[in-house]
Amino acid sequence: MKVLNSTVDLSKSASMFDEVSLWSSRFGALLFEQLELRDGLDILDVGCGTGFPVIELAAVHGENCRVTGVDVWKDAIERARAKIAWLEMTNVTVVEGDAARLPFPNGAFDLIVSNLGVNNFDNPERVFAECARVARPGARLVITTNVQGHMSEVYEVFRGVLPARYHERIADSERHRATRQELESRYLAAGFEVTRAVTAEFGMTFAHGSALLRHPLTRWFGWRDLVDAEDFEELFGAIEKAIDKPIRTTIPMLYVEGVRR
Ligand SMILES: C[S@@+](CC[C@H](N)C(=O)[O-])C[C@H]1O[C@@H](n2cnc3c(N)ncnc32)[C@H](O)[C@@H]1O
Repeated sequence: MKVLNSTVDLSKSASMFDEVSLWSSRFGALLFEQLELRDGLDILDVGCGTGFPVIELAAVHGENCRVTGVDVWKDAIERARAKIAWLEMTNVTVVEGDAARLPFPNGAFDLIVSNLGVNNFDNPERVFAECARVARPGARLVITTNVQGHMSEVYEVFRGVLPARYHERIADSERHRATRQELESRYLAAGFEVTRAVTAEFGMTFAHGSALLRHPLTRWFGWRDLVDAEDFEELFGAIEKAIDKPIRTTIPMLYVEGVRR
């Protein structure tokens, strides 16, 4: 890092100063609260998106660590690169690539991190195998994620309003998120010994069904696909009406750390 406590270029800050989303930051807070910082590491962030937590990992570890981010999302990698250049950071790089085929040699990293990645990988088994391949013996694999139980209060409403023929889809939607047991099994199968698991949760409250269903975050959860297109207006209208007062939803989080055997 060249710059020691300099001021930032304010003329460029509006286009770069996008704070981490409230959603990602909750998991990021758990990550940075639990992660023990060590010196001289090669660090990989899998699914680094537009630069979180890869940039923060580089910033808190300092210049003796080399930090790399990888993501399949080309535009996000370009954005992360622009932020890194603007911040004048020299200990962090980002690469476009698929975590199921990591573009790195065997045994390249001492710490592999993924914040909110694991529920999004098409082939998590392959991603874990790749993490094991690029990990040095003794390297740590740290994952933070939401787990099953995610917004269970909303799924309860879905079950109450949607006809029985949709209940299996509701269950599938709930099940697509990891459980602690599943994640720990993946660690073991890939050759990591689980050394720590920390559970936490936070709440998100929405004023009513209308706010919940139109919220920019919940659009990512695929709830529209729970019902057939021809039923959408009627059934989602009924869900919207059924939630006629503030609804507090629970988001269970998990931090899992393991060591490469
Ligand atoms: C929910 S976002 C999390 C992004 C960021 N880590 C954060 O905390 O905000 C999941 C990220 O995983 C990436 N992703 C999904 N599948 C991937 C894969 N096979 N290889 C690499 N990245 C992947 C997505 O492109 C996306 O950026």
